[in-house]
Amino acid sequence: MEFGFSEEQLMIQDIARRIAQERIAPSAEHHDRTGDFPVENMKVLGENGLMGIEVPDEYGGAGMDPVSYVLAMVEVAAADAAHSTIMSVNNSLFCNGILTHGTEDQKQAYVRAIAEGREIGAFALTEPQSGSDATAMKCRAVKQADGSYVINGKKSWITSGPVAKYFVLFAMTDPDKGARGITAFLVDGSRDGFHRGKTEPKLGIRASATCEIEFQDYVAQASDVLGEEGQGFKIAMGVLDAGRIGIASQAIGIARAAYEATIAYVKERKAFGQPIGAFQMTQAKIADMKCKLDAALLLTLRAAWLKGEGKRFSNEAAIAKLTASEAAMWITHQALQIHGGMGYSKEMPIERYFRDAKITEIYEGTSEIQRLVIARNETGLR
Ligand code: CAA
Ligand code: FAD
Repeated sequence: MEFGFSEEQLMIQDIARRIAQERIAPSAEHHDRTGDFPVENMKVLGENGLMGIEVPDEYGGAGMDPVSYVLAMVEVAAADAAHSTIMSVNNSLFCNGILTHGTEDQKQAYVRAIAEGREIGAFALTEPQSGSDATAMKCRAVKQADGSYVINGKKSWITSGPVAKYFVLFAMTDPDKGARGITAFLVDGSRDGFHRGKTEPKLGIRASATCEIEFQDYVAQASDVLGEEGQGFKIAMGVLDAGRIGIASQAIGIARAAYEATIAYVKERKAFGQPIGAFQMTQAKIADMKCKLDAALLLTLRAAWLKGEGKRFSNEAAIAKLTASEAAMWITHQALQIHGGMGYSKEMPIERYFRDAKITEIYEGTSEIQRLVIARNETGLR
């Protein structure tokens, strides 16, 4: 067992840290306040290989491993969680699925622009009536005599929906078959029959634009099917395994930022004639924050390492996502408490970390769904 990182892994961490600190952190408050989508910053991340970290060089990516992805995501999320949400969807939900299941033509047509950050990608699984219970989807793709499909239906809460060019879409091709009747499609948002709804106002990650999308007689060609007909749900679940490593990393970044701000504050702020960090009650909080942060990071690196080795990592990704997201919520809560009134003020970023942390317990499978996945894996019961 080795606890060090390779030179390449440290190099990508350095690149991500530099962009995060020089470009993203200074504009984080602005993006949170206005909800403006950070177009230019996403381009810079793309130009530096961070929008397709695991994408091979021949498709426009950095050709790095999942551990590098974790290290880079943590740095970007520590500067601003909204940026890291957009980055994670491009990397793990969009590029990863096409690299694993796409044809050579699909990889050439869809991956390069997204990995280079010239366009934004999105992943459309959730519907108004089906989030956790993803197989209860109603979006329907009906096969035509010429092999094309006509798609009708709605998808909700689509990250980057308002701005994305391409989407990985999951639609029901054979409702009688349940999960085995779902097919994945590659969709171009500029084609007829594709409509975007209004951008959702949100508690946190406010610059990550989210909306409903609707299909009205959208025509997908047979060559737009990703993988095999009927394999869509397995593709979605496999892609989400990788996605959960990304969200765990995001949670760690948010938690680390709150933790570091807290360490600085407890040394400087005085009460009853001493720094508040000298009180045992504060020290206990600091110790618990640090333990949760390190545990989350180690579990996330374990999942990423298994993925890099080509081993199964579904359970480990769920364990990492559950631990890291609950750690982020707990750590940002404690950080806010330790900052007192200043924690509640918009003059400091602590209240933003607290609002941003919450989403990590909800998307890419709620904490209850992660517990369900882990318990099913551990017991074999369902
Ligand atoms: N990898 C491959 N295949 C898998 C799998 C995995 N990790 N998990 C399940 N499957 C397969 C099963 O083997 C099964 O295959 P067979 O039909 O051959 O038996 C099939 O998928 C159906 O599996 P289940 O019976 O376990 O399905 P279920 O209906 O009980 O649901 C669930 C399981 C874990 C609850 C799943 O529905 C789930 O993960 N729900 C949460 C949805 C989610 O995470 N949505 C995220 C949307 S994207 C997003 O949120 C992005 C963002 O915010 C930025
Ligand atoms: P529900 O499934 O209705 O769950 C409500 C509550 O019931 C939750 O607490 C849940 O844990 C609990 N619950 C449900 N089933 C069980 C069970 N079996 N056991 C115990 N408890 C259960 N989706 C996409 O497809 N693409 C995206 O890009 C995307 N981005 C998102 C961005 C944001 C900001 C948000 C808020 C959501 C996004 N989503 C996206 C959707 C997200 O994945 C879902 O919101 C999430 O999976 C939960 O689904 P739901 O909201 O329908 O809640």
